[in-house]
Amino acid sequence: MPSTDPGQHRPVMVEEVLEHLACGPGQVVVDATVGSGGHATVILDRIRPDGWLIGIDRDPEAIERARKRLSRRGRVTLRNDDYANLEVILDESGVDAVDGVLIDCGASLEQFTTARRGFSFRLDGPLDMRMDPRQATTAAQLVNKLPERELARIFEEYGGERRARRIAKAIAATRQQQPITTTAQLAATITRAIPPRARPRRLHAATKSFMALRIAVNDELGSLRKALEAAIRRTKAGGRIVVLTYQSLEGGETKGAFRLARDRSRCPPFPSGEVPRIRILTKRVVKPSAEECGENPRARSATLRAAERL
Ligand SMILES: C[S@@+](CC[C@H](N)C(=O)[O-])C[C@H]1O[C@@H](n2cnc3c(N)ncnc32)[C@H](O)[C@@H]1O
Repeated sequence: MPSTDPGQHRPVMVEEVLEHLACGPGQVVVDATVGSGGHATVILDRIRPDGWLIGIDRDPEAIERARKRLSRRGRVTLRNDDYANLEVILDESGVDAVDGVLIDCGASLEQFTTARRGFSFRLDGPLDMRMDPRQATTAAQLVNKLPERELARIFEEYGGERRARRIAKAIAATRQQQPITTTAQLAATITRAIPPRARPRRLHAATKSFMALRIAVNDELGSLRKALEAAIRRTKAGGRIVVLTYQSLEGGETKGAFRLARDRSRCPPFPSGEVPRIRILTKRVVKPSAEECGENPRARSATLRAAERL
């Protein structure tokens, strides 16, 4: 089983992922969000001895961790890239079609618990939130430069934050005095914007706004849409696509992409003229067991969807 070192990301729904990926010896599988290599480790065990795992992550620190963990476990190619570029990555690897693709959305425990990465309202650090530090736009740039209305849209649309306009107004007032450059400054500004009695009881007042900013900084939904389309196109007949999502927008993107590829008539043809089709394997989404939710809080919001390429 994968390591359960408390500082290391614990892979979610491992048994369910393996069951739906249904991978076996000799297969070529893409782990599009290889992270710390938790899922990749168990996939490699299944595709041994002559299988090939192509691992992608846009975070160079994740790629380094995966390299250390996976390098001796079999044939592994690691690419530090956005999974939106899946087709280019496969072309460059000389692969036409793969047997399986796993996408495990969102940020990792390592990203959330490393203050200098700026993902967390609990740890003070630079207001960054970039999964790929080579990317130009940071959370600080969005927070300090975007018009108030656009900030409100992000908080509402990506975070489902009911007090989005109030929060955006408070940010606009604060940044007039001095730029907001740290996670603690932003968390305090958001908390002050919400009257004490209106603050959520179980969540930190900044939870939804931080998630919304992270989604915007990394264009998470745009990348997911492209990756799903690429995965559907480049998985061979009988191959599987498995997606773990942690919030409703990611789930909605996945559901939409799967439905489009299921209902041929609604699916736009690809440039080749081919219309790839899939069968949705999870008529009802799969949720983690109560036991797993008890052991790993991150699992609680997880939802698994899977499809088979026809
Ligand atoms: C939930 S973690 C994956 C954990 C992994 N399954 C494991 O078992 O260790 C999500 C990972 O996906 C990466 N990621 C998120 N969006 C990405 C994208 N558009 N392209 C590539 N990697 C991405 C993050 O950097 C993070 O390392």
